[in-house]
Amino acid sequence: MKIELLDEVDSTNVYIKKYIAAGENAIVCAGRQTGGKGTKGRSFFSAEGGVYLSALTFYETLPAERAFEIMTHAAVSVCRTAQKFGVSPEIKWPNDVLVDGKKLCGILIENGISAGAVKYSIVGIGLNVSNDVSALGGIAVNLSSAAGKPCLVGDVRDELIRSYGKRSDFPEYLSFVRFLGHEVTVTEGERVYRATARNILSDGRLEVEESGVTRRLSSAEISLRL
Ligand code: BTN
Repeated sequence: MKIELLDEVDSTNVYIKKYIAAGENAIVCAGRQTGGKGTKGRSFFSAEGGVYLSALTFYETLPAERAFEIMTHAAVSVCRTAQKFGVSPEIKWPNDVLVDGKKLCGILIENGISAGAVKYSIVGIGLNVSNDVSALGGIAVNLSSAAGKPCLVGDVRDELIRSYGKRSDFPEYLSFVRFLGHEVTVTEGERVYRATARNILSDGRLEVEESGVTRRLSSAEISLRL
């Protein structure tokens, strides 16, 4: 598989699209991004000291209903990587990776879907390693401070690529999810309510219970606070 390492790029998720036409799997990593993209149209802070990686994967047969597997695999790959550096991560559904409640990593997935099947996916991972995250108002953490020792960006990047190349399954994803059974705050449009998180379904929906009523929520439609 092609692996390309860049010093700087606008966004690895944008850059890697040039490989779609070739139909081959590829990974692109950058030392920094000038136009890092986050979920829900936000920008993603991408200073030197983080791992900014995009992986382009083609699928022979992956029904669109199973697209959540792409997300779970990405989050698991990051969690395994964090563990290798002595850190105990948790997944905030659907795919943020946190350490002690602070964001270690964000994941942005762009799928190419046609005729009900995922033809290819672009998985973008931004992992804080030694970059200064203090400007983000205390909501983020980097791997070095979580590990209590300096971690080298190149080592973390190589470990993440290795981990991404190994298979994962849904039980492994669930093993990193800690908030099930706990109260969460759900924002659904204008409505904000407290509910108990009950389950994550294999199609990616979160099941919550509010005053005895069970709701199945899609991550595209709500936001969640633990
Ligand atoms: C989020 O938490 O909002 C998702 C952030 C995803 C950031 C990564 S960094 C590598 C890839 N390139 C981008 O422009 N975005 C993703």
